[in-house]
Amino acid sequence: MNKNLIFYQLFEHETSTYTYLLGDAKSKEAVLIDPVLETVDRDLQLVNDLGLKLKYVLDTHVHADHVTGAGEIRKRTQAKTAVSADAKVACMDVPLHDGDTLQFGTFEIKALSTPGHTDSCMSYVCEGMAFTGDALLIRGCGRTDFQQGSSHKLFQSVTHQLFTLPPDTVVYPGHDYRGQTKSSVEIEKKFNPRLGGGKTEAEFVKLMSELKLAQPKKIHEAVPANMACGNIKSETVLHPQMVNDIPEITPENLKPHLGQVRLIDVRRPDEYVGELGHIPGAELITQGDALDLFFKTNDKSQEIVFVCRSGGRSGKSTFEARQQGFKNVANMTGGMIRWNELKFPIESNQPHLGDK
Ligand SMILES: [Fe+2]
Repeated sequence: MNKNLIFYQLFEHETSTYTYLLGDAKSKEAVLIDPVLETVDRDLQLVNDLGLKLKYVLDTHVHADHVTGAGEIRKRTQAKTAVSADAKVACMDVPLHDGDTLQFGTFEIKALSTPGHTDSCMSYVCEGMAFTGDALLIRGCGRTDFQQGSSHKLFQSVTHQLFTLPPDTVVYPGHDYRGQTKSSVEIEKKFNPRLGGGKTEAEFVKLMSELKLAQPKKIHEAVPANMACGNIKSETVLHPQMVNDIPEITPENLKPHLGQVRLIDVRRPDEYVGELGHIPGAELITQGDALDLFFKTNDKSQEIVFVCRSGGRSGKSTFEARQQGFKNVANMTGGMIRWNELKFPIESNQPHLGDK
């Protein structure tokens, strides 16, 4: 590696994301690739400690698993944000096309269009290193089943764009889930079980179509935020976690927002007034005919948390509500059992007439 090139590989453990810092030791100009919002402070501290000036913040693509730190870094530094022009991220400073180059000091980063994981993935090549985002991972590759992904395109991108780089090009991926840090074009061409060893496009497409992957936990938050350079905008009060396709919220996270969201208790009337009681303000709408009617006659944009005894029935109701088109619903995990364990306030008065 050129002795004037400063290089750091940084890791964000919650989403196993790599962020890369490259700097020119002489001019002190630097770029960051794929920063994560949660680790912006750490990254900027390092930039500061090394006496670097960030010139560009690059994203390899519109991530679905984490929120980019690009917008936050731009606010706090002079850096310009850069991402593929095809990503249609309105707030970016520098839209990139295949073959475009960016300078920092005496170094140059070249953008290679490598769509397939998403329709706008870019890889970045600099000084014998390729930052491949989720197009090519170490012995793997990014999924192609959402965000306009295409296994056909990904095969073409990897075999025509990345595998044609010099064999000793060091591959630095966007993620690794097994603790590996780098690979090379030569090694991935030989050993990548999805794309290497002479795999054909048809074999790759079949393999990808047979993967059954859960959605990333943060997809509903991350994609809209990343389309806005990482600015999290929300009209809702709660930020549920997606678990097996059901948005969930804990009693601890719900309690500060009592009165701000609609609470629907889906248990039977006798349970509602029984020893576990109900959350103050919760409406009794029992699962079955009453709840079905509610789904048909209520505004689908309102923010609702469903509650039951232990979280099972309310989980089903949350799932059902989403199927009916309700956008901002969540299941309270652990139900009234957990609520009582936490000694949070309850009421056990009779339901109002008409609540049934
Ligand atoms: Fe991704």
